Amino acid sequence: MADRKRPPFPFALIALAVLAVLAFVAGDAGVAWAQAMTNPQTTLEPKSEVARAINDVLDGIVIWVIVIFVVVQATLVFTVARFRRRPGGTPARNMHGNTTLEIAWTIAPAIILAFIAVPTVKTIFANAKHTTGDVTVRAIGHQWWWEFQYPGRGVLTANELHLPVNKTVSFELESVDVIHSFWIPAFAGKKDLIPGRTNHLWFTPEQTGTFAGQCAEFCGASHANMYFKIVVQTQEEFDAWVAQQKAPVAPPDSASLAARGLAIFQKGQCVACHMIDGVSYGVVGPNLGKLSTRSTIAAGMFPNDDQHLTDWIKNAPSLKPGSLMTRQDVSDEDVAALVAYLRTRR
Ligand code: CUA
Repeated sequence: MADRKRPPFPFALIALAVLAVLAFVAGDAGVAWAQAMTNPQTTLEPKSEVARAINDVLDGIVIWVIVIFVVVQATLVFTVARFRRRPGGTPARNMHGNTTLEIAWTIAPAIILAFIAVPTVKTIFANAKHTTGDVTVRAIGHQWWWEFQYPGRGVLTANELHLPVNKTVSFELESVDVIHSFWIPAFAGKKDLIPGRTNHLWFTPEQTGTFAGQCAEFCGASHANMYFKIVVQTQEEFDAWVAQQKAPVAPPDSASLAARGLAIFQKGQCVACHMIDGVSYGVVGPNLGKLSTRSTIAAGMFPNDDQHLTDWIKNAPSLKPGSLMTRQDVSDEDVAALVAYLRTRR
């Protein structure tokens, strides 16, 4: 009686229970935190049929993951509890293989993977089918900004994509230098822009508003600074935007600061890289014809205000590593004149 040992305290069991509770609480808090945040690049709030189909595949996989987690953890807890060492118990038997078990745990994952693979492959094929949309946009990747052409509409812009709501848009994706990746999390999965070929992507934006886009393939020093903005509008607003982009801009009054800016623009290096209808025909940098209709500069890095535009013209590489736009040796007065001129481009 005196040397009878008490059964070992089930530490492992209690630790597992505590971990399970902690994981549950942390998971719950994480979901609440994520919901409270604004997540401009979330894929979990799809706003097009394509993004929703991808999100549905993810939901299905998450359900399988939860089922597997619960089954594995329940088996583990049961085994730890049921087969724990007891006083006076017999030593554990050595086992060398169990054919039934091994066949079972080979077949079960294969079946689960089949349930995941079928909807995944179906969604990939459905999204890959080439669709001619109501709107076609040619999106061209540059280090490190986006060129957007609207063939048939005569619009050429950069870094800010305008789309009409509930209209299917079909993209032709190209690159002039290295591989980039076109990604608008709310609307579609990522697709590469590859030099020398055209890739296709389509979706139908279902909600008006402003959405975030981002290059999703490492493409050099400023890869992380290659944003773009998507403005989804009603058809009327979109038509008005197209008309505004195409409307001619009157040259500035001859005595104005803007006129001086135009002269500097034409004499300087600007014309080598930038296009302004009737003024210059460079294709290396973004089209500046309607620069002042855009809300940001430098591919979404900075607001399009006078201070940022001034800093950018003076020394772009200091603001955006690797920028092809070199430091300009111009006086403050000349930069002010250039900014005044660019402000007339709307
Ligand atoms: Cu372009 Cu990363």
